[in-house]
Amino acid sequence: MQKESELSFHIIGRFKLSGSITEMKEEIGLVVKKANMELLKRGAPKGCGAEIVKWDIDDDVLTVDIKSDRHVRAHDALLRLRKPLANALGKHRVGIRGIEIEKFTIQVPTEGPFKEFKIPFVKHMHHKDGKISLALEVTESHIEDKIPDRIITLIMEKIAAQHYGGKDEHWKLLWSSKEKAPKFTGDPTQELINRKWIRHFARGQWIYGPQITKVFRAFEHIIEREILNPLGYQEMILPKAVTWDVWKRSGHAKAIYPEMYYICPPKTRDPEYWEEVMDYYKITNDIPLDMIREKIGAPIGGLCYAQCPPAWMFFKGETIADDEFPIRFFDRSGTSHRYESGGIHGIERLDEFHRIEVVWMGSPEQVIEGANKLHDAYAHIFNDMLDLQWRRVEVTPWFMAQEGLAGKAENEGVGTTDYEAYLPYKKGWLEFQNVSINGDKYPKGFNVKLQSKGEFWSGCSGIGLERWGAAFFAQKGLDPDDWPNKFRKIVGELPDVFKFL
Ligand code: SER
Ligand code: ZN
Repeated sequence: MQKESELSFHIIGRFKLSGSITEMKEEIGLVVKKANMELLKRGAPKGCGAEIVKWDIDDDVLTVDIKSDRHVRAHDALLRLRKPLANALGKHRVGIRGIEIEKFTIQVPTEGPFKEFKIPFVKHMHHKDGKISLALEVTESHIEDKIPDRIITLIMEKIAAQHYGGKDEHWKLLWSSKEKAPKFTGDPTQELINRKWIRHFARGQWIYGPQITKVFRAFEHIIEREILNPLGYQEMILPKAVTWDVWKRSGHAKAIYPEMYYICPPKTRDPEYWEEVMDYYKITNDIPLDMIREKIGAPIGGLCYAQCPPAWMFFKGETIADDEFPIRFFDRSGTSHRYESGGIHGIERLDEFHRIEVVWMGSPEQVIEGANKLHDAYAHIFNDMLDLQWRRVEVTPWFMAQEGLAGKAENEGVGTTDYEAYLPYKKGWLEFQNVSINGDKYPKGFNVKLQSKGEFWSGCSGIGLERWGAAFFAQKGLDPDDWPNKFRKIVGELPDVFKFL
């Protein structure tokens, strides 16, 4: 992230008063002098802070001109002045009605090129001589709500993102299995289509026939037997229509927009209101999309994306007894949805997919231990049962990536491990599941506490059935004779059904 050290602020504020203060020059002068010496330097290192560089009285308006560095930001200095001013003016029965912001500029240092962009509350943005100058249009209450500070944070993030582009995506190899001679080298999706195991339905959506469904259920059986049951995970059913309040707390509200499926309710459920839509369809056999667009409300949220975030609404605001820990549960109650880039990608990149989401919570030690147990169990499954060529890599934590951030988590021990499988037909690798230690991100975001007030962490692991399938079929093909014996036994006989002429 960009250094904040050379930030500078300049604000001109006008205190609107309830009476004339023309006669109070001397007293105001004293308030300003004292503020410059003490109040506007409070909390800042020696020689730093804010300074009233000019002030002026015009009947019932006091104008102050404040410059500052990052230590006492000028807009905060302006708010700090309210109290001593009110005290001084009060003696003359004059009150403060409010503050108008006449001018507010901020300079943010940056190295290298910077692309200007539009941002709420910023009138102008200019990049020149290694500095970005911002002219803000804000009110007193915006300052109270910390909007200028969030604008600066956002600019810093954009500077970092523009410098690194996508290049800062973290990736580090942790472990790799032996190379395995593939039993199959074709594109598994094409083979699945040819054998009528799947049929394309809509953008990024497939219908899964009985054969592949049986294979998916075999994966689930393995997951139950090797992971969920022995490690003591309880099943829960989580909402799949996810409301904004969840994504505000999980951080998805910062970046999910291009990739989410939006959910819009009807403006009313009165059939009469919808009659013209019904009639239009009956007459034309066309769905009147524009008419419908007028009749639906703003989106209430979107379809399940990351799966675990709504679980935290179950714990929100609660204090959990220490001996409840570690908490372990999983959800497999529905689909996840992402608006992926266009075109048909096959079963490895989908708009609708099926995932078992595994979540655990506890002290940092318990959460790390939970992750290690999963890693061991997955290794056993992929090595001894599915016989895959796979590797483990450390990547940008999923919760950061989904918030639009790159890089690594700041906290030691926090992060996402991706499991990648080799795809012979692509001569490339596919991420087919992950294990993440999410640190205190979720307990913090959803305000969940531990009785002992100790550190509270969580972890999650997403097991995508289609991704397991994509990895397995790509290496082993669709012929059960080529599959590892142990797995073949679990799958059983594949149904021989649905012959089309
Ligand atoms: N919630 C995690 C993710 O979306 C694991 O499934 O990647
Ligand atoms: Zn998760």
